Amino acid sequence: MQPRHVLITGASRGIGRGTALHLSRAGWSVHAAVRRHEDGVRLEQESEGRIQPIRLDVSDDESIELAHKSLEQAVGDAGLSGLVNNAGIGAVAPLEYVTREKLDEAFAVNFQGMVMTTRAMLPLIHRARGRIVNIGGGGAAYLGFPLMGALAATKYAVEAMTDALRVELRGAGIRVSLIEPGMTYSDRDKDRFLQESNAAFEAASARLPDEGRRRYAEPLEKMREFNASFLAKAVPAEFVARRIEHALTSSRPRSRYYCGSETWVGILISKLLPSRARDALWGHITGL
Ligand SMILES: NC(=O)c1ccc[n+]([C@@H]2O[C@H](COP(=O)([O-])OP(=O)(O)OC[C@H]3O[C@@H](n4cnc5c(N)ncnc54)[C@H](OP(=O)(O)O)[C@@H]3O)[C@@H](O)[C@H]2O)c1
Repeated sequence: MQPRHVLITGASRGIGRGTALHLSRAGWSVHAAVRRHEDGVRLEQESEGRIQPIRLDVSDDESIELAHKSLEQAVGDAGLSGLVNNAGIGAVAPLEYVTREKLDEAFAVNFQGMVMTTRAMLPLIHRARGRIVNIGGGGAAYLGFPLMGALAATKYAVEAMTDALRVELRGAGIRVSLIEPGMTYSDRDKDRFLQESNAAFEAASARLPDEGRRRYAEPLEKMREFNASFLAKAVPAEFVARRIEHALTSSRPRSRYYCGSETWVGILISKLLPSRARDALWGHITGL
């Protein structure tokens, strides 16, 4: 039997790392994309050599091309059976003060990075009639989280693009799914996860001019608390990894996977509550 090759972007930690370990245990030949050499070495060691690291910065076209070339050699005629577009970054800032640099960075990784990686890998995916799994933003996207509007915008873009891609590739037999994670952590990273989330809100506040801080420091602090409160309900990365595996292997992969109960609550709120009521809810949470 031909080996099933999968490429996972952003595999150094979090959902990407959890998925790499999960799929390698399930017998996949995993190509785990990382930006730093030491992250690749660690993954190789953790998986006892089953995971093959590959260097990839999704915001850099040259890096994507190099990754494509090395992957082409590695997979040969078998092609690529799965691409998991997971790499992503956050963006916390009131839109009134967001910089072009921040917007460019968020879109370069979360959106353009996903499209350009997919484009580059598609010849290999065609070869295997493989599948594509894009990681969306969960509630942050479809609820348009205030003070995280730039992040929400990149993930809305991912949703729209994934819907279009799914139809464009239907005829080629390439299935495309979107995963909507709820709050997710990996055991090893739980403390770091909270620290990074807190630091992102604190840094966003510190970057504001005096006038901005007067208006947004308190809402940012409330949003930080709201975000942190979800950590208690967070699901392990393994939970999302199993949804990703389903999307890669099931004879009937879903177009969308909602992970975790708060994701379902979020989707119901976004569909059923009128905008005015949603705004009031956010007002209650953030004081805005
Ligand atoms: N965790 C959640 O609660 C949650 C909820 C909703 C959606 N999501 C989405 O799920 C995905 C994974 O989230 P996570 O929490 O597991 O993230 P994470 O722990 O912050 O890890 C992000 C990964 O993306 C990589 N990355 C960042 N910039 C990159 C670039 N330019 N090129 C290639 N890789 C890059 C990071 O690599 P480095 O280590 O080199 O920085 C890291 O491996 C993201 O798309 C995120 O938006 C997560």
